[in-house]
Amino acid sequence: MEEPVSALPQLPIHPLGRAALTCQYRCGNACAHEAPNASENEYFADVVATVLDRRGVLRAGAVLAVSAAGAAMLPGVARASGAAAGDAQLAPEPPGTRFTPVAPNRLDEVVTAQGYRQRIVIRWGDPVLPGAPEFDFAAQNEERQSQQFGYNNDYCGLVPLDNRRWLMVNNHEYTNELLMWRNYDPANPTERQVRTSWAAHGMSVVVVERDPHGGLRVVLDPHYNRRITATTEFDVRGPAAGSALLRTAADPTGRVVLGTLNNCAGAVTPWGTVLSGEENFNQYFANAGLVTDPVTRARLARYGLPAGPSDRRWENFDPRFDLAAEPNEANRFGWIVEIDPRSPGERPVKHTALGRFKHEGATIQVARDGRVVAYLGDDERFDYMYKFVSDGVLLPGGSRRAREHNKRLLDAGTLYAARFTGDSPPSEIDGSGTLPSDGEFDGTGTWIPLARNDVSFVPGFTAEEVYVFTRLAADAVGATKMDRPEDVEPNPHNGRIYAALTNNTRRGTTGQPGPDEANPRNVNRHGHLLELEENGGDHTGTAFTWRLLLVCGDPDAPDTYFAGFDKTQVSPISSPDNVAFDRYGNLWISTDGNALGSNDGLFSVPLAGPHRGHVKQFLTVPIGGETCGPIIEDDFVLVSVQHPGEVDGASADNPASRWPDGPGSQPRSAVVAVFPSRGGRLGV
Ligand code: FEO
Ligand code: CA
Ligand code: CA
Repeated sequence: MEEPVSALPQLPIHPLGRAALTCQYRCGNACAHEAPNASENEYFADVVATVLDRRGVLRAGAVLAVSAAGAAMLPGVARASGAAAGDAQLAPEPPGTRFTPVAPNRLDEVVTAQGYRQRIVIRWGDPVLPGAPEFDFAAQNEERQSQQFGYNNDYCGLVPLDNRRWLMVNNHEYTNELLMWRNYDPANPTERQVRTSWAAHGMSVVVVERDPHGGLRVVLDPHYNRRITATTEFDVRGPAAGSALLRTAADPTGRVVLGTLNNCAGAVTPWGTVLSGEENFNQYFANAGLVTDPVTRARLARYGLPAGPSDRRWENFDPRFDLAAEPNEANRFGWIVEIDPRSPGERPVKHTALGRFKHEGATIQVARDGRVVAYLGDDERFDYMYKFVSDGVLLPGGSRRAREHNKRLLDAGTLYAARFTGDSPPSEIDGSGTLPSDGEFDGTGTWIPLARNDVSFVPGFTAEEVYVFTRLAADAVGATKMDRPEDVEPNPHNGRIYAALTNNTRRGTTGQPGPDEANPRNVNRHGHLLELEENGGDHTGTAFTWRLLLVCGDPDAPDTYFAGFDKTQVSPISSPDNVAFDRYGNLWISTDGNALGSNDGLFSVPLAGPHRGHVKQFLTVPIGGETCGPIIEDDFVLVSVQHPGEVDGASADNPASRWPDGPGSQPRSAVVAVFPSRGGRLGV
C-alpha cells in the first residue's frame, strides 16, 4: 500500500518541555503528526505548578546551591539529612560527585554548584579563522558567518594537540532564523538569510588552550582552525558509496556530497578523529508530495520528508533541496560523518557502513580482538538502536601509518539493529512504570545483523538498500521500537553501554505501540537511561543483557526509579539526551527539554557502590536553552549551551533571553567551561 508522505503545514503539537519554536527549527516538528492529548496538557500544568512549589515549600532543610550571581532561585532538592537514612547516607559519596546539587530554576544564566566558576569559551559569531570579523548581529552574511563560530553548537569534542592545547570540534546543529533576523518572514527568506544559514550549519574546529584565569580560551590558529558548512565537500565511503541511490545530476559519481546538516552528538575516536551524527536532515528538503514513484514515496515517508515546502525554503535558492527535482539528494544525508581535525586540508567523510537514519551520534569501543564497535541511536519515537562492528582491527599508536589505517576502519564491517526482550511477564509491564515483581526493568537482547559490506542479511533488501534505507531494513527484522534513542555510549570504566531514551509521549496511546520492559511507561514524558552489558564483555558479539538504570521524572512520582537509590535524595531529571563519563567512571547526563518545568541541566550519577543511582544536578543552563556536548575533564567541564531564549513567542524583535551578553543583547549559543573556584579536581 502506498504510504502517505507527511503533510505540510503541520500542526504545532509538541512534546512537553520543549518549545514549539525549538521543535520547528531543530527537528522540523518531528512529533507534529501526533494527536494532541488533553491529559498531557493537564499534566504539564500540574507538574509545573506542583513540582517546583512542593520542592520549594515542603522540603524544609534542603541544602540549596546558590547561583554565582546570588540571584533568587527556585528552591531545590537533595535533603542533607532526612527520614530515609540508609547506607548511602553513611557512605561517602564517590569522588567526582561531591558537590551540593543545583536546585531546579528558570534563571537566564548558567547556574553551577557552589564553589565553581564559569567562563565562556566561544559564542555564536565569534571569530574562528584568523582575521574573521567580530560578531555583529546587524551585519550577518554568508562570508562573515563562514569564518565565525556557527549557530546552535551541540556536540563538543576535545582532541589533544599537545600538553597545553586541544583541538575543539563542535557541531552546529541547526539555525533559528526567527532569532537570527529582525522582521524575518518564514515564507519568503532572502538569499542573504538562506546563505548565512548554510554557513551557520556544519562544524567548527578551534584550537583552545588553558586560560590562566581558569577554563579555556580560543587560539586563532591559522593552520587548524576551520569551518565546515552546508557547502563543504564530503567524500562518501563504505559499501553504498557510488550507489545509484546516491547519484544526482550534480554528482553522477554518488561519491561527493556538499555539506553536513543537523549535526547532533558525536565522539572522539581512539584514533583522534571526530564522529558526528546527521540527525533531522529531513526538514531541509521540500516537495516529497510531488514524488510519484510509490517505492520512493514510501522511503521518503519512513524518513519523514515533508510533502510541501521546507521550513527554511532553501529549495528556493538551491534546487538540490527540492525532492521533485532531485529525489536522491536527501539520501546523501542522515549519515555518520568523520572529520580529522589534525588534517585541515582533508575532506571529511560520510560513512555509509554505519547506516542511514536520524543519527544522534556514534561512539567507539575497541573490542578485545582490536575490532572497533560503533554504538548508534536513531533519535525518533519508536525507532531503533544499532551497532557497527568493523572488519579490520585497530593499529595502536599515533604513527602516520596507524592513523591512515584506523581512519579506514569504519569503511567495512557489519551493521546490527537491537532487539530487547524483558525477563518479566508482559502482564507485569502495564505502562504505569510500576516495577515488575523481580524488582527491575531488565532482560536480554540480540544484535540482529542487517548487512556486511555487499552482503544483505535482510530478505528483500540489497545491501545498498540496507545501508541507504536502514530504518526499513530494521523494520523488516523486528528491531525493538524505542523511546527516542539519543546518545549510546560505552563507559570505559566498566565496559557497559549507556543509552539515553529521551522521551516518547506517544508510547501506549491509541494506535501506537504499548509498553515493553525496555520502554515500560506509557506517555513517557521524562525518558529513561538504559544500561547494556555485552555477553562475556565481547563487544563484537550478538547477545547482551540490559536493565534500566533510571526511569526519569519527579522523584516523588511513583513511576520514577533511580537504580533503587533513595528517591528523597536525588535531583529531578527529565529528558536525558547526552551522556559522558568522568575519570572515576561516574555517568554524567545532560538534558534536552525538561518536562518538569525547570531549565535543562547537567547531572552526575555514580554507577557503582551504595550511591549508584544518586542523581545530582551540577549545573543548569539559561532559559529556553538545552544542555549538550558535555565533556567531563579532571579539572573542568565543558557544556554546550544550545538555543538559549528559544521560547515560544520569542523573536529577534522580542528576545526571551539576554544570555550571555546581557542587557540589550540577542541570545547566543556558546561553549561554557566550568571549573573549581580554587583549582584542583572536580567533585572531590
Ligand atoms: Fe539533536 Fe537527538 O538530539
Ligand atoms: Ca524484570
Ligand atoms: Ca542530542
